[in-house]
Amino acid sequence: MKGYVPGYQPPDIASWIKLNTNENSYPPSPKVVAAILAELGPDGTSLRTYPSASSQKLRETAGELYGFDPSWIIMANGSDEVLNNLIRAFAAEGEEIAYVHPSYSYYATLAEVQGARVRTYGLTDDFRVAGFPERYEGKLFFLTTPNAPLGPAFPLVYIEELAQRCAGVLVLDETYADFADSNALELVKKYENVVVTRTLSKSYSLAGMRLGMAIARPEVIAALDKIRDHYNLDRLAQAACVAALLDQDHLRECCRKIRDTRRWFSEELRALGYDVMPSQGNYVFAAPPDQNGQRVYDGLYERRILVRHFSDPLLCHGLRISIGTQEEMERTLAAMKEIG
Ligand SMILES: Cc1ncc(COP(=O)(O)O)c(C=O)c1O
Repeated sequence: MKGYVPGYQPPDIASWIKLNTNENSYPPSPKVVAAILAELGPDGTSLRTYPSASSQKLRETAGELYGFDPSWIIMANGSDEVLNNLIRAFAAEGEEIAYVHPSYSYYATLAEVQGARVRTYGLTDDFRVAGFPERYEGKLFFLTTPNAPLGPAFPLVYIEELAQRCAGVLVLDETYADFADSNALELVKKYENVVVTRTLSKSYSLAGMRLGMAIARPEVIAALDKIRDHYNLDRLAQAACVAALLDQDHLRECCRKIRDTRRWFSEELRALGYDVMPSQGNYVFAAPPDQNGQRVYDGLYERRILVRHFSDPLLCHGLRISIGTQEEMERTLAAMKEIG
């Protein structure tokens, strides 16, 4: 099998404007830094002992924040870990999982490792899952909402309809939900087959700490708990997570800035003749007038601005550009004007 190829992380990162992996250009809450330092202590003595195996304090903090009992929450070493464990828990060798293409192709890699079969569904022009059956009999269906790399989120009523049509589990990958107008968390309480995954990598600026979670019925959480590494989150990540989740003012302010810049940047690109998908994430998918994404990618790369170009025929006409700070996006726009 082929492995998944993550977005490029240049070694000389400080000399780039890095807009290729939807990281957050703003720093995390100062309270996160303080919590990590406090956990570490002056001589790092806390590191001698294992962390909480259940990450209990994190489940309680997230439960309080989202309105769920902690038994409905599991923490993960990045949401990638919990996506992997969902497949391990629900799809045995030869069983089927499905997802929308284009979205996050890592689901396919994770499924292949388990010997599960993978089906993909396309998107219709009005942004619905093309040809989704009246009853989907596969074990898991992954819906990335907001969709990455394209940007739009699926409406709640439509997601609810999909939940009713899935015989197996509907996983709502809400990696980008904090940047969106709404989310589908309420469906977890309403449908026993709905699982929502979240991450602190994007909106909380903590991609480097590897923190994610799933919210689902306690039976599902118990199944996921059985198969995870028992010490899946290290001490510093646990301290960082609690502090980050408790600083909602910081989160709100950061998301507000990114949403404002997203609106401004999208309008400016449209004025240049680009097709820009309406985005609910911290990125936009934009295609230049000549539909040659590679050309603009190369021009930006020469100017040390890194964005994401996909060779996939459905995506190669455009670019996925993460929304950085207003200043980074002004420089990116100026470069795009120069490139033409
Ligand atoms: C749709 C989607 N799901 C999951 C992930 C993985 O996120 P994490 O950093 O929490 O593992 C990403 C990361 O880019 C993503 O775009």
